[in-house]
Amino acid sequence: MSKNNNQILQQRKGIILAGGSGTRLSPVTRGVCKQLLPIYDKPMIYYPLSVIMLSGVRQIAIITTPEDRESFTRLLGDGSQWGLSFEYLVQDRPEGLAHAYILAEEFLDGSPSIMALGDNIFFGPGLTTLLLEYNNVQSGAVIFGYQVNDPKRFGVIEFDQSGHVKSIEEKPQHPKSNYAITGLYMMDASAPSRAKKVKPSQRGELEITCLLNTYLEEQNLFLQKFNRGFAWLDTGTHESMLDASNFVRTIQTQQGFIVGSPEEVAFRHGWISEKDLHASIENQIKSEYGKNLLKIVPGS
Ligand code: TTP
Repeated sequence: MSKNNNQILQQRKGIILAGGSGTRLSPVTRGVCKQLLPIYDKPMIYYPLSVIMLSGVRQIAIITTPEDRESFTRLLGDGSQWGLSFEYLVQDRPEGLAHAYILAEEFLDGSPSIMALGDNIFFGPGLTTLLLEYNNVQSGAVIFGYQVNDPKRFGVIEFDQSGHVKSIEEKPQHPKSNYAITGLYMMDASAPSRAKKVKPSQRGELEITCLLNTYLEEQNLFLQKFNRGFAWLDTGTHESMLDASNFVRTIQTQQGFIVGSPEEVAFRHGWISEKDLHASIENQIKSEYGKNLLKIVPGS
């Protein structure tokens, strides 16, 4: 992976995948889109959004179904309330995670990207530093690995002793490691043109594994492991949503941190002023979320 210091660095842009069908949450998702459902005190999409913001990225494309675009716009607006700029991209059918890069080609306009799945939560020490470290990287792709008990359920990463990726296998019968690929990816500017060459899988989707394999073939795919004590939660089922809500509640009530707050990240990055923060708190002071935001006001 090279840091092209001699050329002007292209600003990284963000993508949140908030389409899909949410079949594992039916019948709930017949009426409401998954990423708008609450994880404890805030909508699910706040969590991946905050992670992208932590990485310093401010231009973000949100991929939605045609039906849910309006609801996302109502919730998130144009992003300016958090010092961000949002673009909504409609995905007519769930054509797979790699399809996001085809949809986002114009939006990316030659920039490298960070993509997060709209139903993934990341929380743990060192996340910001880790993400910022990769920001100047303009060539190759980075995947984030997490040690799991039951790798057969995941995309599994095989790697050598120095951490070089050797293979990625989707839900393997005989996993070659205990490391699963999480729903966070960083890719260079070539991702859209690579995605266009990916052929649909048996289930009719453009698989992210196939896109990542194009980087792997060029030995340009890198693994960053999340350490012990880090939390990665995929909230695609009722059980995992409940677990995630309990996790967030525990951290927030016992430690006093807020997990997944765009207001907090924007304020800490200096993208919104203290006055903006107060205005946002005032708007939602009756909710637990609004009250929690008071904790980040300086001097409180
Ligand atoms: P999944 O959880 O794999 O799929 P899903 O959301 O359709 O749910 P289910 O398996 O219950 O039917 O998707 C991961 C994330 O990516 C999720 O936030 C939805 C999003 N997604 C898209 O935006 N477009 C797609 O084409 C697919 C497959 C997923």
